[in-house]
Amino acid sequence: MQIIRETNALAAALAELRGAGDTLALVPTMGALHEGHLALIAEGREQASRVAATIFVNPLQFNDPGDLARYPRQEEADLAKLAEGGCDLVWLPTPEQLYPAGFATTVSVRGVSERWEGAHRPGHFDGVATVVTKLLLAVRPDLAIFGEKDWQQLAVIRRVKADLGLGISILGHPTVREPDGLAMSSRNALLTDEQRQAASALPRALAEAARSIREGAAVDPALQTATNRLTAAGFSSLDYLALVDERTLEPLSAPAEHMRLIAAATLGRVRLIDNLAVADAQQISW
Ligand code: PAJ
Repeated sequence: MQIIRETNALAAALAELRGAGDTLALVPTMGALHEGHLALIAEGREQASRVAATIFVNPLQFNDPGDLARYPRQEEADLAKLAEGGCDLVWLPTPEQLYPAGFATTVSVRGVSERWEGAHRPGHFDGVATVVTKLLLAVRPDLAIFGEKDWQQLAVIRRVKADLGLGISILGHPTVREPDGLAMSSRNALLTDEQRQAASALPRALAEAARSIREGAAVDPALQTATNRLTAAGFSSLDYLALVDERTLEPLSAPAEHMRLIAAATLGRVRLIDNLAVADAQQISW
């Protein structure tokens, strides 16, 4: 696996990696890699002949400086996991390389980025859209793979791709979960043992609400039951728990096609997000 730290070495390394007829998949990450990230690398191996990853804790997308400071960093372990997972090249730019003095351009997406995470984390999706655009333009892969775990992020990135005509396929990969249903996340490591136990209430509340809605229950009471369940489990604040159209992220007050439940809630100091397609409710085993 090639490890590229100098941005000016990237183009030559990619040219060498990518022989005639090769296709390249890119998996952008912020490191602290877990099975969820590695599933995206494995998907890349299936979809393309070469796989590249990036590790960059993007300061632009952290609206809370404390969150940025606390974000776990474990580069050596990450590189070992990527090599083991069959990644061919990893690029680790520095903030100074990606945002040199005088950097003044923002990619900002209206509509799909405005509600939910966008409303609770001002500037977050501008940071995501800007860095992802830069990473995609620098690497120019055939496809880039993102997790459904961050559903709204995936919708924002699809919008950027379509609006800017990037000519790169965007692929979503299903959320990888712990046996009790908790979506894998680098932030899970920040939970105490007790909070970790309580955290599975989030996916369970979503699954229960998804089942009720599928079975014809009214939407608002189903969401209220899920909210009560989270409060009872010890979540201190609930930023949102909503039924949305999964392409536009607009809220739904009655069942429709392509509906998804999305939620963000805090346990202690750790903010967790999750989402579930209502159509998938029947297949859930946790
Ligand atoms: P990060 O949180 O490191 O996630 C990198 C990729 O892994 C994202 O596409 C995310 O959706 C995916 N992912 C995380 N947990 C997952 C899980 N449990 N199952 C499936 N996929 C999962 O998301 C980011 O970084 C950043 O915003 C980034 C896109 C890299 C831009 O900075």
